[in-house]
Amino acid sequence: MVEQLTTASSLARLVPVHEPPAGREWWRSSVIYQIYPRSFRDLRGDGVGDLPGITAEIPALAELDIDAIWLSPFYRSPQKDAGYDVADYCSVDPLFGTLEDFDALVAEASRHNIRIIVDLVPNHCSDQHPLFQKALASPAGSPERDLFIFRDGTGDHGQNPPNNWQSHFGGPAWTRITEPDGTPGQWYLHLFDTSQPDFNWDSPAVHAEFEKILRFWLDRGVGGFRVDVAHALIKKSGLPDWGGRADGSSSEGFPGSDAPMFGQPGIHDIFRSWRKILDSYDGDRVLCAEATIDPIERLSDWVRPDEMHQTFNFAYLHHPWHAPALRHVIESSLHAFDRVGAPTTWVLSNHDVVRHASRFGLTGAGPRTGDGLGPQDEQPDLDLGLARARAATMLMLALPGGVYLYQGEELGLPDHTMIPDEFRQDPTFHRTAGVRVGRDGNRVPLPWKANLPSYGFSSTGESWLPQPPIWGRHSRDIEQRNPDSTLNLYRRALDLRRELDLGNGSLAWWPEHDDDGLVAFVNGGVLVAMNMGDAPVQLPDLPRLMGSSPDALEGARLRPNRTVWMRLG
Ligand code: GLC
Repeated sequence: MVEQLTTASSLARLVPVHEPPAGREWWRSSVIYQIYPRSFRDLRGDGVGDLPGITAEIPALAELDIDAIWLSPFYRSPQKDAGYDVADYCSVDPLFGTLEDFDALVAEASRHNIRIIVDLVPNHCSDQHPLFQKALASPAGSPERDLFIFRDGTGDHGQNPPNNWQSHFGGPAWTRITEPDGTPGQWYLHLFDTSQPDFNWDSPAVHAEFEKILRFWLDRGVGGFRVDVAHALIKKSGLPDWGGRADGSSSEGFPGSDAPMFGQPGIHDIFRSWRKILDSYDGDRVLCAEATIDPIERLSDWVRPDEMHQTFNFAYLHHPWHAPALRHVIESSLHAFDRVGAPTTWVLSNHDVVRHASRFGLTGAGPRTGDGLGPQDEQPDLDLGLARARAATMLMLALPGGVYLYQGEELGLPDHTMIPDEFRQDPTFHRTAGVRVGRDGNRVPLPWKANLPSYGFSSTGESWLPQPPIWGRHSRDIEQRNPDSTLNLYRRALDLRRELDLGNGSLAWWPEHDDDGLVAFVNGGVLVAMNMGDAPVQLPDLPRLMGSSPDALEGARLRPNRTVWMRLG
């Protein structure tokens, strides 16, 4: 069987499990690059990245041939959760610059045909937001309190939380306030840190507030919004207890679909109303959901034609290094999103997970979303992790649909696993007394120049988190000069992806190789093969090798932990 299929013509005849999309809007095949502003580039010298730093590096990003940048929050904020605790949604925190700096960034990006997508954080704000401060100063039952989720406590004196919900960052999801008259009072819900009170999306006033915020940024020319914790906006009425995971994913006896704080049906009306607002603007602007919803078929309901445009595919991000598991997640994703006519998206790293260059160097699956690796944990095998990360990226960039990249992955950066405790800022670390180290390790400032202090991140050599010595090897200037670097691999693969229009392509499996660990498919006249097994695998005799991760071939055999792209004819 395999023999018969190894000619170019037989490969070209394989039956696709996914066909090219009917529409050709940019977001169906987009490459979107996530910037975590505080760690990208610090032009003003205080050790924290800023908007002018991003503007200065737009030409470097344009070389990667990306369609858009998603900016993690840069709004005015006490920075208790690195800006995901917003105190003023229509502003720029002085830490990052000014609104004029933002306008300059949008203008420079647009000169390079790059759109700017901003992070909308609608589930919660900062406890310093004026609306929450007013709620605290107002009596129980007032319209001001109704913007948030305040409840009386249980127990004789209201001394216990209203239910058993837990915060994603550890500890209870409720905090008791002191009423203006000094007495112990109601409790408010915060699915994240105490400093991040959840909004009450049953209140029309909250809807109105966010419509204003959407328009504010759309008027300033943004290309759309990445919607933070989009799955949690509506809570089940009565707020029933929940014994499952705080992050809404499934566990034994507690399917994520039953979680009372996630994926409630009322959510769809919110997305539809936002979609109408975006559609009333020119330029094909997008909404992308951050949503932890099981299973993927349920998640795809979020991107029906009148709802969001894209949603992150966390099932893909979490695939283990195992060929059948990877094939399954790719195929089930394509099926689910094809059903509603939406693009499937692919992502391997972001600011909430251990970077894939570290994850793939571990013996197991590694920590869950929201956790990191510390000095006490298993340390990744960096060479193995990098080889696998490059192979996994080569495979991802050949898949049809949209792709998300996280800053620094194009340099092959691993996590910093040895950050001394005194530098850690993630609330997870502090709320769990260090039991969970949190996400600082994937947020370390980027290395630009190997020989400068802070590896060229900051004009003064400052850096809000210490950088590991391995940053020297991964600095952008070093990688630029090395034809075999991760950076040059990303550049070549991204160029080819666009040239061959793979994002709008199809996918047909090369007959299964369960026993040898190969994941292989044909898209756009290219055979893409990744070897996830332990031994080299024979490849078909095809005319042209188009690209590969380094040292991929041993004669006509594909080495383990490598990917090749080969032209069919
Ligand atoms: C999202 C963000 C994460 C943040 C959380 C609370 O999951 O990606 O970084 O801590 O929301 O806003």
